[in-house]
Amino acid sequence: MHHTLIIDTDPGADDVIALLFAMAAPEALELQALTAVAGNVPLAKTSRNALLACEWAGRPDIPVYAGAERPLQRTPIYAANIHGREGIIGVDVHEPATPLAEGHAVDYLIRTLRTAPERSVTLAMLGPQTNLALALAQAPEIVRGLRELVLMAGAHFNGGNITPTAEFNVFADPHAAEAVLKCGVPITMLPLDATHKILTSDERIARLRGIGNRAGVIVADILDAYAPQEMQHYDMPGGPVHDATVIAYLLQPSLFSGRLINVEVDSREGMGFGQTVADWHGSLKRPANVNWIADGDAQGFFDLLAAHVARLP
Ligand code: RIB
Ligand code: CA
Repeated sequence: MHHTLIIDTDPGADDVIALLFAMAAPEALELQALTAVAGNVPLAKTSRNALLACEWAGRPDIPVYAGAERPLQRTPIYAANIHGREGIIGVDVHEPATPLAEGHAVDYLIRTLRTAPERSVTLAMLGPQTNLALALAQAPEIVRGLRELVLMAGAHFNGGNITPTAEFNVFADPHAAEAVLKCGVPITMLPLDATHKILTSDERIARLRGIGNRAGVIVADILDAYAPQEMQHYDMPGGPVHDATVIAYLLQPSLFSGRLINVEVDSREGMGFGQTVADWHGSLKRPANVNWIADGDAQGFFDLLAAHVARLP
């Protein structure tokens, strides 16, 4: 399964792990660029952290474009309480050796998708979907260049993580999520329903650390710092690695299972703000627009992650 891939991201502890994972699979994931968006922390930090991920993966050749610094309409929210003030809890950050690519991420998405062969580009989205929503608003014809969207977003059976009903990436920009879900491109979503079933353990983190390379230590240090607070807050036996499940899906979709259903976003102010309404039983008889992933093979995920982290510097 080969993908010509762009990753839109708000690094972010789990984003960094996902980016390292992706950059360890160049034969399957032909990574064109990273586009950064404000989310877990402000844009200046998410774009810097994306550059650091490229540095740690030994891939300074991958261009990183800074994108939207705020959501379409709502007041910005961040998650530094989870990801740390600098956005990568558990590791020290530094000024990257490589500068950001020239130009705005939205302009990069528009010119790239306008000229790409029809349905050729996979876009993985690991943060609020603001960049793509802005690009679609300016140039709706860019959908022709997209093969599929794979998003870490949403929650249904699991319930939310930022409110009782909403998952962070959607809650941080529900108007963007609404536009993306309606764009007509094939969409797969890895919601909390799946990511909260693929959890760390002391053994799984020790295995990553035991690989013995720098990437293994970085991933293990991040997980050792990131997991406990998620475990405590959601009363889980391990910590989720949300965004990395998107990369595992791209590499080995057979690890996951789900259903093609109708999914819409509630962007009305109130208790349901940012909720993904996932019509799992087809009650509303609305057209299916999302391959909603509800389950995943946790051991298979960690086996795949470890095998790829071992390929890095
Ligand atoms: O809800 C989890 C998602 O929100 C992940 O992508 C995490 O990085 C944050 O962006
Ligand atoms: Ca993220």
